[in-house]
Amino acid sequence: MQINTFEEYQKAYDKSVKEPEAFWSDIAEKFSWQKKWDNVLEWNFKEPDVKWFINGKLNITENCIDRHLPEKAGTVAFYFEENEIGKPSREITYQQLHDEVCKLANVLKSFGVQKGDRVCIYLPMVPEAVFSLLACARIGAVHSVVFGGFSAQSLQDRINDSSCKVVLTSDGAFRGNKTIPMKPTVDEALKQCSSIEKVLVLNRTGEKVNMQQGRDFEWKEQVSKQSPQCTATTMDSEDPLFILYTSGSTGKPKGVVHSTGGYMVFTCYSFLNVFQYKPEQVYWCTADVGWVTGHSYITYGPLLAGATSVIFEGIPSYPDAGRFWNVVDKYKVNIFYTAPTAIRALEAAGLDYVKPYDLSSLKVLGSVGEPINEEAWQWYYKNIGKEKCPVVDTWWQTETGGILISPLASITKTKPGFATLPLPGVQPVLVDEKGNIIEGNGVEGNLCIQFPWPSILRTTYGDHERCRATYFATYPGLYFTGDGCRRDEDGYYRITGRVDDVINVSGHRIGTAEVESAINQCEDVVESAVVGFPHDIKGQGIYAYCIVPNSLKSHDEIKKEILNCVNKVIGPIARPDKIQIVSGLPKTRSGKIMRRILRKVAEGEINNLGDISTLLDPQVVEEIVKGKI
Ligand code: WT7
Repeated sequence: MQINTFEEYQKAYDKSVKEPEAFWSDIAEKFSWQKKWDNVLEWNFKEPDVKWFINGKLNITENCIDRHLPEKAGTVAFYFEENEIGKPSREITYQQLHDEVCKLANVLKSFGVQKGDRVCIYLPMVPEAVFSLLACARIGAVHSVVFGGFSAQSLQDRINDSSCKVVLTSDGAFRGNKTIPMKPTVDEALKQCSSIEKVLVLNRTGEKVNMQQGRDFEWKEQVSKQSPQCTATTMDSEDPLFILYTSGSTGKPKGVVHSTGGYMVFTCYSFLNVFQYKPEQVYWCTADVGWVTGHSYITYGPLLAGATSVIFEGIPSYPDAGRFWNVVDKYKVNIFYTAPTAIRALEAAGLDYVKPYDLSSLKVLGSVGEPINEEAWQWYYKNIGKEKCPVVDTWWQTETGGILISPLASITKTKPGFATLPLPGVQPVLVDEKGNIIEGNGVEGNLCIQFPWPSILRTTYGDHERCRATYFATYPGLYFTGDGCRRDEDGYYRITGRVDDVINVSGHRIGTAEVESAINQCEDVVESAVVGFPHDIKGQGIYAYCIVPNSLKSHDEIKKEILNCVNKVIGPIARPDKIQIVSGLPKTRSGKIMRRILRKVAEGEINNLGDISTLLDPQVVEEIVKGKI
């Protein structure tokens, strides 16, 4: 499954385009199937309807765990590094992983969870989070992980959207020097979630929590009663594996649905090839299981490949900015995968935090989540990789399930700021505004993919039309990513950022419409407009313009209220970095907010606002610019 040279990459790529079915079936053969597929692929991007490994039967956890047991029962699957520094690491071997997953799967069964039921996972970054995903998959339940930083209301919306039956959660989370309550948030959310029957509560922080009789159960007590054997439920290739909510340019977050067979094949293939993982290496991805990176490259990809990984509960700055390098040194990490925002924050902290640690075990450095600026790339390459480790800048999305454009470590020549070349099986195209495909090199356009890869999203939960309209209707016949992209003279791809109303804050995707609707729930605000602006550490920050008429409160008070409101409706990750109180917003005569102008002002480009002649009231702009200064 692993490519070893650039020539092999080119050959694999050619074959994947000319004979995609033969290409992917050769790879799929390497897994353990309860029944082989009849046909490899059927697809159209019109409805859309994509099916891979048709009528194949399997269970992904047998491939993640059982398949490895003959040789790897005693091999470490995960080292767990706690939030608190200096704690001995907890080691989870493949055999222990098997037993824990089976026991938890049996708890779910005892709760009445059946194949196809949805289970919500709201947990900190502890091994039980990974066990939870796998326990669901073991019995064919569809997991829906909600990131621990989301508010009760967001959690409630997500639980209700897919009518989850059970929530797996924790009393709280350790995060740096803070203890964050989680069970109280779940309690708040469950006030209006009629589908939830049972809640399993992990004791992590030891904080006393309310336990509702008949609904809430103590994790360890339940798990310890169960057998460490649980027959894996037979799944069809196209049965859904999970739902993961993600923001778009309009409306509420969508539940992106991934299916089983294709997702398995692609996450394993991409993991092995991008990172060039070799047996016995130690791999560490710093993401949270609440995001797709934690699904594909902490849980499924590495386990499918039989890898040994580190799971880290904490944050990069605790107890100080040397924590990542301390962990790399402690576990002799060979492959390290993180986000540009973390790299920039650690760069800003200075090299004194890097120097005390031995980083010589490192072989590959990965980056994900947002465009990596050249300065951060160089700092990472020089100071962390000591100019010996390739930086793999991996471009992908929640919807793509796995990495689509990235160098293959030590195989593809890298270029700072470039995700470089598509993986085999991935056919990117750039299109202009009208949807014409732009051929040749040295060009720029909107990034689309013209052929299905095995882990493409299948639908958005409960609303297939929304999936079609969002991804397949802008440019008929193509999957539209929402990203702008340049293809340089060498045919290398550089992602330039979102072209829609989505902002990328510290690698987290946030829809401006969602933040606006949260702000508008604030009593004193009548209207708001949210845009992104360049932020040194976060990549993009959130800039909110808010109309607050005739209030007796001070601006500071109102700003505080707005922040609280966003906290409550979405969660701390969507809190605006800057709030400007204005008396009006620049609108066209048809009433559309001119975000282009608001973006310019937020960026500080006030002398270059472009054409404002179509504005209903050009004076508003003058006032906004003055307010900004
Ligand atoms: C959006 C997807 C991929 C897992 C984490 C984020 C941006 C992601 C890169 C990269 C430039 C990137 C894109 C994309 N993005 N990786 N290497 N270079 N931009 O997943 O929350 O679904 O966000 O993140 O804009 O569309 P996500």
